[in-house]
Amino acid sequence: TLAFAKPLVITADRMIDVKSGKVINAAAVIIDNDMIIGAGARQALDLPADAETMALGDYTLMPGLMDMHVHLVGDSDHHGYATLGTSVSRSLLYGVKHAEKTLMAGFTTVRNVGAPGFTDVALRDAINDGDIKGPRMFVSGPALGVTGGHCDNNLLPYDAHAKSEGVADGPWEVRQRVRENIKYGADVIKFCATGGVLSKGTKVGAQQYSEEEMKALITEAHLRGLTVASHAHGTSGIKAAIRSGVDSVEHVSLLDDEAIELAKAHGTYFSMDVYVTEYILGEGAKAGILEESLAKERMVGSVQRENFRKAVKAGVKMVFGTDAGVYPHGDNGKQFARMVKFGMTPMQAIQAATINSATLLKQENNLGSLEAGRKADVVAVKGNPLDDMSLMEEIGLVIKDGHVVKQLAM
Ligand code: ARG
Repeated sequence: TLAFAKPLVITADRMIDVKSGKVINAAAVIIDNDMIIGAGARQALDLPADAETMALGDYTLMPGLMDMHVHLVGDSDHHGYATLGTSVSRSLLYGVKHAEKTLMAGFTTVRNVGAPGFTDVALRDAINDGDIKGPRMFVSGPALGVTGGHCDNNLLPYDAHAKSEGVADGPWEVRQRVRENIKYGADVIKFCATGGVLSKGTKVGAQQYSEEEMKALITEAHLRGLTVASHAHGTSGIKAAIRSGVDSVEHVSLLDDEAIELAKAHGTYFSMDVYVTEYILGEGAKAGILEESLAKERMVGSVQRENFRKAVKAGVKMVFGTDAGVYPHGDNGKQFARMVKFGMTPMQAIQAATINSATLLKQENNLGSLEAGRKADVVAVKGNPLDDMSLMEEIGLVIKDGHVVKQLAM
């Protein structure tokens, strides 16, 4: 990676100001060490005299992209029973590879929601120490869930006594598990409020934790200053999580009007993975996804997309979350075009993946926008993605913490 001894001035035909939702033409971003010290219309900026310059021309500058729902740890090419042969150590080594792919796709920050053995904490720390390349990670440790629920492992019969680390039942047990995750380095708490698509034997629409357990879990996490993400497909689980004060709901497939109103009233973020269904139904069988899971996906996929349209229209706060790991890491950007197809403006989709995600993480004074005083996480896309969102699938320039980690021939 290239760090610059002098300040770096990057110029480009345009820049996206995610806060105002406007495009600034003839733009520049000024970076000093790991920080942005100026950004905006070139004419309006004081350009330092001794700076290096990078003149990009027909490119669009924007903040480093953020994905709020990834699973970097694990073998992303195999699902179902094929996962049982992968050790925790091997899963982490896959994670090293996946972290680099994610960064190269322009995602400079991710929220990793669920990993075994605090491998996500190790991956985060190795990246922060500069030992390996990857995005800035906010991690959950093992996801909490009820016995036999979506966050448990239900593939093996009773006599194998297999159980995921995050299984916790009852208000005090979930509080204990939250405390343990915090002890070993979690930044965020993830729990499963309902059944899921890829878990064996769970009803995707059925609530799992009781509201009493959700309230205990979320109260405990908030007490300690962490935010909470809830996996939820079914309507009653979504509503219970929102009423219990959850910060973001993941997937959010089966909504009704009341759920949308509740999310608006509570300021809850939705993280809706509207690309992954194409991969599951297209490639999933080959990758080992169980037939019962494919059947569940056929039920929720298209409903989720229509509900995405409704939620966007109603003005629910939205972040960008993909579930990468179910599909190949590095393909995260494919979701942008789908978000527009299912009802967002291109600007809204970019805001979801920048300023909205930064705000959900309570990092909006640090990440998520191009302005003085923010970390120098910057990406550039050839052309204008507001005219063609598929351009977000190939990011030409990636800068993280002021280091150029990727630069295509320009
Ligand atoms: N991890 C999620 C689950 O197993 C994936 C759901 C994907 N489907 C969708 N339409 N978003 O439930």
